[in-house]
Amino acid sequence: MDADDRRSSGVIKWNRYPDRVIPAWVAEHDLGPPPAVVERLRDLVDLRAFGYHSAGDDVGPAFSRWATRRHGWTPDPDLVLPTANVLQGIWACVEALTSPGDGILYSPPVYPPFLDVPPTTDRRAVHWPMSYTDTGWHYDLDALSALLKADPGVRLLLLCHPHNPTGRVLTAADLTRIVDLAHEHDLTIVSDEIHSDLVYEGSTHIPMLTVAGASSRTVTVTSGVKTFALGGMRCAVAVCGDDRLRSAIRSIPAELLGAPNRMGCEASITAWETGSGWTDNLLALLDRNRRTLFDRIRAELPEVTMFLPESTFVAWLDFSAYDTGDHPARWLRHMTGVAGGNGPNFGPGGEKHVRLTFGTSAELLDEMVDRIITGLNG
Ligand SMILES: Cc1ncc(COP(=O)(O)O)c(C=O)c1O
Repeated sequence: MDADDRRSSGVIKWNRYPDRVIPAWVAEHDLGPPPAVVERLRDLVDLRAFGYHSAGDDVGPAFSRWATRRHGWTPDPDLVLPTANVLQGIWACVEALTSPGDGILYSPPVYPPFLDVPPTTDRRAVHWPMSYTDTGWHYDLDALSALLKADPGVRLLLLCHPHNPTGRVLTAADLTRIVDLAHEHDLTIVSDEIHSDLVYEGSTHIPMLTVAGASSRTVTVTSGVKTFALGGMRCAVAVCGDDRLRSAIRSIPAELLGAPNRMGCEASITAWETGSGWTDNLLALLDRNRRTLFDRIRAELPEVTMFLPESTFVAWLDFSAYDTGDHPARWLRHMTGVAGGNGPNFGPGGEKHVRLTFGTSAELLDEMVDRIITGLNG
């Protein structure tokens, strides 16, 4: 598909800005979905399969097989609740597992909708900031421990695992410590693992629900949306660690919990059942892109700070050396014709940063990097 086709397809990534701008602002790659998914959807259209459906019943088993194959984790399909999207799963967990006034913890700079959770649910926002050092962005477990001691009203940790926008992957030691702290401080963990299929060599994604002691405290929310470029299809899962958590979430009226779309279910199931080799190829391509971006920024724009992400197809660039004003993404777009995600929208720590999506063709990536380098080097 070329840029004109992408624009005509109506996806927001390619339509928010004028045609001359290269879109790198939303966490959606241009490389999917796998052909088998397109075929399955075409079959369903031919069959006029638009009526009420029970495809959600097949989502849990298909996801469980995928998680086994990719992550060595076999969730019990009975504990997998299909939802329309990951954010819906998050809001359902907050509704079901906490009360008004409870503290909700998350790690800014972070995926912007996390910041909306407390104010829209009458909960209290508690920040566990990512620490920024000369080796990059890190989760600071000592800071978490101190924070929980100081604030006994925190009830839920919304964990971005792997972390968007920094690409940080949590280690086994980090995860064990988090589970220990969850037990000590009566905390539920909602582990958002939507980026977990896209982790590069050198790091490993460890599903939270494989960590000893995690199951009584954890709901994992995830989907095939990032891996297979299915953002508009509306199908995700909330994997409950045990029956108690499942019953609590099930206690929300079904109409509020929502349900996945037939096409989304079928697309996700097909991708999970057949997309393993396709995902390996995708990851190899994304790996080349992340290295190209990183190497060229280091060599040709040393004033910009970038760390090689361990996961995801987004890069988190620090433009503090420039006079970006308070909207660094707008500044970058005007300087270079490349539209990134605006750092301040990711919360404290996002000032002077722009998130760039590098999930695109090698040719478009080259053009994007050329524009940034030429635009900023004058
Ligand atoms: C960490 C994280 N969670 C959730 C989402 C959105 O998922 P959904 O569209 O299924 O709500 C994104 C999308 O960028 C994300 O990065």
